[in-house]
Amino acid sequence: DMTPMIDRFSRPISYLRLSVTDRCNFRCVYCMPAEGIKTIPKADILTFEEIARVVEVGVSLGLTKLRLTGGEPTVRADLPVLVRMLREIRGLGEISMTTNAARLAELAGPLRSAGLDRVNISLDTLDRDRAAAIARRDILPEVMAGIEAAIAAGLTPLKFNAVVMRGHNDQDLCDLAAFAHERGAQMRFIEYMPMGDARLDIDDSSTRATMTAAEMRVRLAERFDLVPEPSPTADGKAVPSTGDATPPADLHDPARGWYCRRTGTRVGFITSMSDHFCDTCNRMRLTAEGALRPCLHQDAEVDVRSLLRTGGSDARIADAYRQAAALKWEGHRMTQLVPLYSRREMVAIGG
Ligand code: GTP
Ligand code: 5AD
Ligand code: SF4
Repeated sequence: DMTPMIDRFSRPISYLRLSVTDRCNFRCVYCMPAEGIKTIPKADILTFEEIARVVEVGVSLGLTKLRLTGGEPTVRADLPVLVRMLREIRGLGEISMTTNAARLAELAGPLRSAGLDRVNISLDTLDRDRAAAIARRDILPEVMAGIEAAIAAGLTPLKFNAVVMRGHNDQDLCDLAAFAHERGAQMRFIEYMPMGDARLDIDDSSTRATMTAAEMRVRLAERFDLVPEPSPTADGKAVPSTGDATPPADLHDPARGWYCRRTGTRVGFITSMSDHFCDTCNRMRLTAEGALRPCLHQDAEVDVRSLLRTGGSDARIADAYRQAAALKWEGHRMTQLVPLYSRREMVAIGG
């Protein structure tokens, strides 16, 4: 029975976030503790053949969109080989990747040729020292080279992701928005989510690292006259059309789009903390060690690796997907900015 996966809350599952490694060449403060995390032994990581098989079964169950994540996906050896294998799966639509871009100078071309459609690039600041403080490494020159390579290779439309943290990069929002606009890209500002042991000063609300999207817009108002883009959602939160022709956002896009009436600059806000988007969630995750995880914030996982390694049939793998979809909770109900999250670090889940 290969009927499409729908969870208990009638949400069709069509988007797989595929973590190809738990390793990373950065040590971002919002993502892992300074000492890093205990990495998964190589033998426990799914092989390319195993990954492709799990994805293929998922596609037969209705997955259409695939995103490679990590850790940092580009540190997995021979990543273009995997992309080529995935590209051959019939019925699969977009393949994209979320990356820190540091290795894209080398890999953008090969990944594009292998069939990768586009990338979302993490970019938290344009200031070299602040970038080094956030990533705990001096990374900005490589990142900039990677961004230019991604554009040259046609891994577009490009999106930039900045995790906004009070006291770390909140002074950079205007520069980031302008930088993305010059490159024809959307800048997305993400509310910092305290997770695992990588939590920044969450107990002191006066120095709370999380800034809400509303607070970010106050900073952006210094240079941008932002109004909401028309929203396709019919949930009462839909914003009035301003009359300008902006393309409707994807219903499952967690980013709320705004644009500047003067400059046309487009920015998005991912309001994970102040206004979650769980009711339109279409996501499933596959961890690097081969477990299906229904939600970023829910420590429930269904092991597929043991099925793969003991001769399990496609039907058994399909059952694992259905089990994971059945475990998917309705979502987190955040009434205040208090973390109620997974004990896993972000780096081990892939966002
Ligand atoms: P698009 O396909 O371009 O819309 O990408 P995306 O937004 O799905 O992926 P990306 O990896 O760029 O994620 C952007 C941000 O959304 C990251 O900070 C993630 O942590 C956050 N995010 C991704 N999935 C979820 C989720 O299921 N729940 C929550 N709360 N945040 C998520
Ligand atoms: N809160 C919000 N976003 C985060 N990311 C990593 N850690 C966090 C966090 N604690 C983002 C990265 C990347 C994506 C995969 O997740 O910036 O864009
Ligand atoms: Fe690495 Fe991305 Fe985590 Fe930064 S956010 S440490 S680049 S996985």
